[in-house]
Amino acid sequence: MEHIQIHDKTFIPYLSQTDIQEAVDILAQRINTDYHGKDLIFLSVLNGSFMFTSDLMKGITLPCEISFMKVSSYAGTESTGRVDELIGLTSAIKDRHVIIIEDIVDTGITIDKVIKLLTIQEPSSIEVCATLFKKEAHLGQHPPKYYGFEIPNKFVVGYGLDYDQHGRNLPAIYQVKS
Ligand code: IMP
Repeated sequence: MEHIQIHDKTFIPYLSQTDIQEAVDILAQRINTDYHGKDLIFLSVLNGSFMFTSDLMKGITLPCEISFMKVSSYAGTESTGRVDELIGLTSAIKDRHVIIIEDIVDTGITIDKVIKLLTIQEPSSIEVCATLFKKEAHLGQHPPKYYGFEIPNKFVVGYGLDYDQHGRNLPAIYQVKS
């Protein structure tokens, strides 16, 4: 894998496509086991989770619903933590088991607010499945139950993650060069 230049920053290879696929397969298997016989709905948080959602869903063998929603956007390399509302959530989640699919849980502020908004609708349970977890940066109440990799507090792009809207298409994950 080559170094990548996006705007003013250089990124170095961090997690390969093979690394990611192996981790995603394990997550799908764990979910298949844990949610057997349950009424399961996946809520994918756009834009960042589109690639992860696609790969993860190919490994899910359970009957389930998949829905997509947006929350307020994130710009630049520092999380704003602002979430105004959930846009596009049309599925009813009352008395159902929800798995939120996220690209990355960083401070956890976003996911905490999403969970707070979803809880109003009284689902049976809510868990989070993220590709990446920046555990050192986490300040929230809801660490992801399912995640592919715990990573250090450094900015990453690729596999759906962007730097100022670029880099989402990269099939591997790259870390900013410091
Ligand atoms: P949090 O609220 O701090 O957990 O951040 C949530 C959102 O910030 C994620 O869903 C991403 O869209 C974005 N984000 C956080 N860290 C990174 C990163 O290293 N690269 C790209 N986006 C990130």
